[in-house]
Amino acid sequence: MTILVTGGAGFIGSNYVLDWLAQSDETVVNLDKLSYAGNLQNLASLKDDSRHVFVKGDIGDATLVPALLAQYQPRAVVNFAAESHVDRSIHGPGEFVQNNIVGTYQLLESVRAYWAALPAPAKADFRFLHVSTDEVYGSLGKSDPAFTESNTYEPNSPYSASKAASDHLVRAWHHTYGLPVLTTNCSNNYGPYHFPEKLIPLVIVNALAGKTLPVYGDGQQIRDWLYVKDHCSAIRRVLEGGKPGETYNVGGWNEKANLDIVRTICGLLDSLQPRADGKPYADQIAFVTDRPGHDRRYAIDARKIERELGWKPAESFDTGIAKTVAWYLGNQDWVANVQSGGYRDWVQTQYGGQSTPTAATA
Ligand code: NAD
Ligand code: TYD
Repeated sequence: MTILVTGGAGFIGSNYVLDWLAQSDETVVNLDKLSYAGNLQNLASLKDDSRHVFVKGDIGDATLVPALLAQYQPRAVVNFAAESHVDRSIHGPGEFVQNNIVGTYQLLESVRAYWAALPAPAKADFRFLHVSTDEVYGSLGKSDPAFTESNTYEPNSPYSASKAASDHLVRAWHHTYGLPVLTTNCSNNYGPYHFPEKLIPLVIVNALAGKTLPVYGDGQQIRDWLYVKDHCSAIRRVLEGGKPGETYNVGGWNEKANLDIVRTICGLLDSLQPRADGKPYADQIAFVTDRPGHDRRYAIDARKIERELGWKPAESFDTGIAKTVAWYLGNQDWVANVQSGGYRDWVQTQYGGQSTPTAATA
């Protein structure tokens, strides 16, 4: 048995691949185009593991994807591949339209053709799981109830609009063609291998480097935070027991204001790696110009996945953030490689002549 994971060299995808192979012997074919956010070093521990087949390529490649599906005959596709950073989407929305919307469309078409030709039992068992975000629901007021699966889509950023569009395509491919799809809408993740352009890793890395900790606006924007390994277990659970055509909200029951997150990280660093001058890391906090169109609050009602599939997060925010800070302190080489851009040479360094533009086995 085999699954095809897309975007498996990114933050959540690489955690998912590592997690999957720690619990199962089922082969993972990992298709990732290795954009700036793709980092094969995350998967270095799988270098000699034949259960992991890495393929460098685009979900929108209408030649490569059908060939991979035909060759590996996966029983499921888990789609993580996307541009994922809101600030980047504000500066350059085109990549988001191309990768998240057009890419998902083309992937759906490739998968539909493969699925339609499967023999009856394999066809019935096949699943396409689309990994999406709570940001598609828009912004909540202070006392609004948390997002449920029946909230209307009101995306506000180019990122969330592109994810919303991809969710709609996935939904339509189920209703129109019968493709057995599942969609998960998850809140903000954090944990190991998180690219330090997002709030939590950026604050850890900047704090240790003596740089400012930029807090947008008044820092009172609220997000729900989920430890990445809990997101991975939720996806596994939905893949296993989710009902085709359904969507599942995934969250950590951890609503926090950004400023509180930054202060928590500073406090952890103060005790784990105090500044040489003995001053608190919080001295590095700087309030900076707000993000345009900044969503004020996200909150996830994750009762459906708990009720129907028995999934609950294992980590509280306190345990998850402590693990995360400890991981960054213990993996300074990874951080240095990301910051120097060295990680982009990793394929060449690690796989040498074996790597080609379309296929490299890790
Ligand atoms: P990421 O930016 O760290 O990784 C994305 C990966 O996808 C990268 O390895 C990149 O190379 C790859 N990729 C991008 N476009 C591709 C394409 N066209 N073809 C093949 N590969 C491509 O993102 P992430 O934070 O790991 O997020 C993964 C998924 O989860 C995304 O779909 C995102 O929308 C969703 N999500 C993320 C969060 C979060 O907090 N990070 C929360 C909820 C949902
Ligand atoms: P981010 O990690 O980019 O995730 P998202 O925008 O998808 O929620 O940002 C999390 C929150 O932190 C968001 O409200 C924006 C804010 N933020 C800052 O205040 N400073 C920063 O430097 C960054 C990157 C984000």
